[in-house]
Amino acid sequence: MSEQSEPKARFLRACRRLPVDRTPIWFMRQAGRYMAEYRAIRAEHSLLDICHQPELAAEVTMQPVNAFDVDAAIIFADILLPLVPMGADLAYVKGEGPAISNPVRTKSDVAALKPAEARQSLGFVMEAIRLVREQLPEGVPLIGFAGAPFTVGSYLIEGGSSRSHVHAKGFMYSQENTWNALMDKLVDVTIDYLLAQVEAGAQVIQLFDSWVGELHPDDYRRYVQPHSARVLSAIGETGVPTIHFGTGTATILPDMKEAGGTVIGVDWRTPLDQAWELLGDDVAVQGNMDPTALFADPDILEQHVDRVLAAAAGRPGHIFNLGHGILPKTPVENVGAVVDMVHAKTARVEG
Ligand code: CP3
Repeated sequence: MSEQSEPKARFLRACRRLPVDRTPIWFMRQAGRYMAEYRAIRAEHSLLDICHQPELAAEVTMQPVNAFDVDAAIIFADILLPLVPMGADLAYVKGEGPAISNPVRTKSDVAALKPAEARQSLGFVMEAIRLVREQLPEGVPLIGFAGAPFTVGSYLIEGGSSRSHVHAKGFMYSQENTWNALMDKLVDVTIDYLLAQVEAGAQVIQLFDSWVGELHPDDYRRYVQPHSARVLSAIGETGVPTIHFGTGTATILPDMKEAGGTVIGVDWRTPLDQAWELLGDDVAVQGNMDPTALFADPDILEQHVDRVLAAAAGRPGHIFNLGHGILPKTPVENVGAVVDMVHAKTARVEG
């Protein structure tokens, strides 16, 4: 594949730990409510409407690319979308987040889940990817994504967001065979969905395992790692770089790396130099400024940027990002300021 032989875009180069002219930067959840342009569209359409209409999804995907000098775009969708064709009754409830009215709790619930065919049932995402690729400038690659089986499975079992993950972990510990059957179904759908995204034009794939830090390392290895590994290896075979992201992962970074990923995404709780020490130098690292630092005064904000850059120490393969998604009330001007700061502070004479 052409992207494998010396890509030009600095984001793709960093994924492969090639020299770059500046450290690339983008933000998880960079399209969203902190932007007035997004809120204007959201005032007229539900989140699911935006996802289902490729023109709207493409427009929203382009908003942060047009507003800031970010080095990547991420397709506008949601990690829970593939659950709908599998049979989940999904809604986004104002102020509460996702809600699934028929959560999976038993062996027969798992058996009833349908093997969704992404090109048919989620074709609107692939159409949005094609539209965005037509609009993106050459140097700004498009990231496709999915939720990792543990994180998506957790929403499906809990029926929504959860602090303790008591239903999901209870399911995992007390019905291990059924848990594995559920993971297998989610993995099959996720691989099919991500391969369709790559085929449609996604140039990098991020796997969001947002809540995996809730697990003891032994449990990660036993109940989760083989399933994430299956997704990451199937996508890795296409030659497209993969970003494997989680939060609260200080104790499982080496296990996440073993599961796969060209790039490992790290949250702000772990200093980047320590993360790199745990991971080894043969992998790229994405992260990891505290998202709330974007609410601080300019001088404090700059200290946070400097701290991340100092810990990265110019290693090849650093992709600047937040440690988790950008928060809804983030001041827009600070987002642009961080992009420009990172580019200015990391400018290298030779690329
Ligand atoms: O990054 C981007 O700009 C692309 C869009 C994107 C969305 N969701 C759109 C969205 C991405 C990458 C996601 C991923 C996602 N969705 C994750 C993993 C990342 C993370 O934050 O850990 C998770 C856990 C979800 C599930 C989800 N979707 C939740 C928990 C919520 C409600 C919480 C919230 O932020 O409101 C959503 C809704 C959602 N998905 C919104 C957006 C822009 C906000 C809803 C709105 O606009 O009203």
